[in-house]
Amino acid sequence: MKLKGKTVVITGAASGMGRAQARLFSKEGANVIAADIDKDSLDKVVKEITSNGGQALAVQADISNRDSVKDLVKKGVEEYSSIDILCNTAGILDDYSPSLDTSEDLWDRIFNVNLKGMFLLTNEVLPHMIKKEKGVIINISSIAGFVAGGGGAAYTSAKHAVVGYTKQLSFDYGKQGIRVNAIAPGAIKTGMTEEILKDEDAPVMETIKSVPAGRYGQPEEIANLALFLASEESDFIHGAIVPIDGGWLVK
Ligand SMILES: NC(=O)c1ccc[n+]([C@@H]2O[C@H](COP(=O)([O-])OP(=O)(O)OC[C@H]3O[C@@H](n4cnc5c(N)ncnc54)[C@H](O)[C@@H]3O)[C@@H](O)[C@H]2O)c1
Repeated sequence: MKLKGKTVVITGAASGMGRAQARLFSKEGANVIAADIDKDSLDKVVKEITSNGGQALAVQADISNRDSVKDLVKKGVEEYSSIDILCNTAGILDDYSPSLDTSEDLWDRIFNVNLKGMFLLTNEVLPHMIKKEKGVIINISSIAGFVAGGGGAAYTSAKHAVVGYTKQLSFDYGKQGIRVNAIAPGAIKTGMTEEILKDEDAPVMETIKSVPAGRYGQPEEIANLALFLASEESDFIHGAIVPIDGGWLVK
């Protein structure tokens, strides 16, 4: 059990990568504070974890809303008294909209969830970690944090910003015992992509087949990497943006 007795906050825990992280981290002995805006799906995930003997608390939260984020951390700390690991996983896609097709409202929504939400929650959790002089933060960026085409104008910009935010957090808080890294997934089959990946003729399928792995990934593969980054085994990894993309970024 790599995370025995540790407490982890996971956003986006009702689906896809966040759900896979919640399942795996609880199996590894962590207390899971599972957060998502989708209460029904979140409750199902937490019920599954607790009925398998794991420790988990469901907190419905909108990470783009400051009061909701405060409430999430308050409830988590009340239940488990501290927070050791934060997985900033929740995110939304922009339907690959180019700039001219991106309304101001879409731009704001993408940035509010994918970037500002991460910032709000990190700032709420960091003081608890700094007090203990120990903590791990794992942000989910994307291949869209490196190259164009993995999203639209807003999504690609926000995921690039997650890369910068991750590095700056590591730079500013590393010496206080906080280890911050990001994961940059390629195409992964989750709630976000299942409609697109259902269609064998979708243009993205051609790209997926052309990457070295020749396939898309599964959320459990992202959870395995997150577990490594959360554990002591990765103690010397700071401020890294780790691609897990079947080789999408090789060219
Ligand atoms: N699926 C992919 O191919 C892929 C690739 C690269 C990066 N990503 C990133 O991975 C992360 C996880 O996405 P996923 O693929 O598991 O998608 P998903 O849609 O399966 O899960 C995302 C979860 O985030 C939740 N969420 C959305 N807005 C929220 C909010 N305001 N507050 C709280 N929760 C909210 C949703 O309800 C959902 O449960 C995202 O940051 C996404 O951008 C996904």
